[in-house]
Amino acid sequence: MSGPDASPILTTPDGSRTALNARFGEAYGSRHGARSQAWHVFVGGSGTDTHPAPHVLEIGFGVGVNARASLAATAASGAPLHYLAYEFDPVPAATLREVAASGDAEHHPAWEALLRGWDGAGTQVAAEAGDAALEVRFADVTTADLPSGWATALYLDGFSPSRNPEVWTPEFTVRLAAALAPGGVLTTYSAAGHVRRALGAAGLGVERRPGAPGKRECLRAVRSR
Ligand SMILES: C[S@@+](CC[C@H](N)C(=O)[O-])C[C@H]1O[C@@H](n2cnc3c(N)ncnc32)[C@H](O)[C@@H]1O
Repeated sequence: MSGPDASPILTTPDGSRTALNARFGEAYGSRHGARSQAWHVFVGGSGTDTHPAPHVLEIGFGVGVNARASLAATAASGAPLHYLAYEFDPVPAATLREVAASGDAEHHPAWEALLRGWDGAGTQVAAEAGDAALEVRFADVTTADLPSGWATALYLDGFSPSRNPEVWTPEFTVRLAAALAPGGVLTTYSAAGHVRRALGAAGLGVERRPGAPGKRECLRAVRSR
């Protein structure tokens, strides 16, 4: 795990920030609105904002925009949040801080505790505060042991299938489906046909939804009860 090269910060049209990843040549979040994508595709799409006790599994953590949106949503709803993310190339804490500046949940005690413990060097970092438990495992998720039947929401947010195909394969999708609790919802910004087919082949009920700004469609896939 060498860590990505310096990640220039990008301010997106909705005023939120993300960063550019040199290794994959892509932005971590949507250039059309990082916060809008986090809330529309991931938090709203999965129902994390209305779930009484969300357990979120994220692939991958990136610069934490989805995590902070989830913290803000559950702080508003009053639900306790369990958030487990995988990340094989963690950015420095300074980048997380800079992207979060003036954004969702910047001062949430669990976010602040996560940043205090974050050095990106161990195998994981975990923080618990204010009704939220956050854990980031610094590992390649394609070879990691995933929790079984655990996630009420799974945010599939790897870089694009063309640049990072390993997290979009039918084989890996079967493992993701098994990590969902009955009734759990996998959400992703991609609406690619092969992603849709892989989700369906993994036994999930797949729906196309309108996309976040800049994307016509995104996907939501539900594990039946
Ligand atoms: C599109 S970005 C995620 C943005 C993030 N969800 C956010 O809210 O800022 C994709 C992330 O997935 C990570 N990633 C890609 N493939 C991975 C893998 N096989 N294992 C773990 N992390 C991976 C990348 O390093 C990157 O940080």
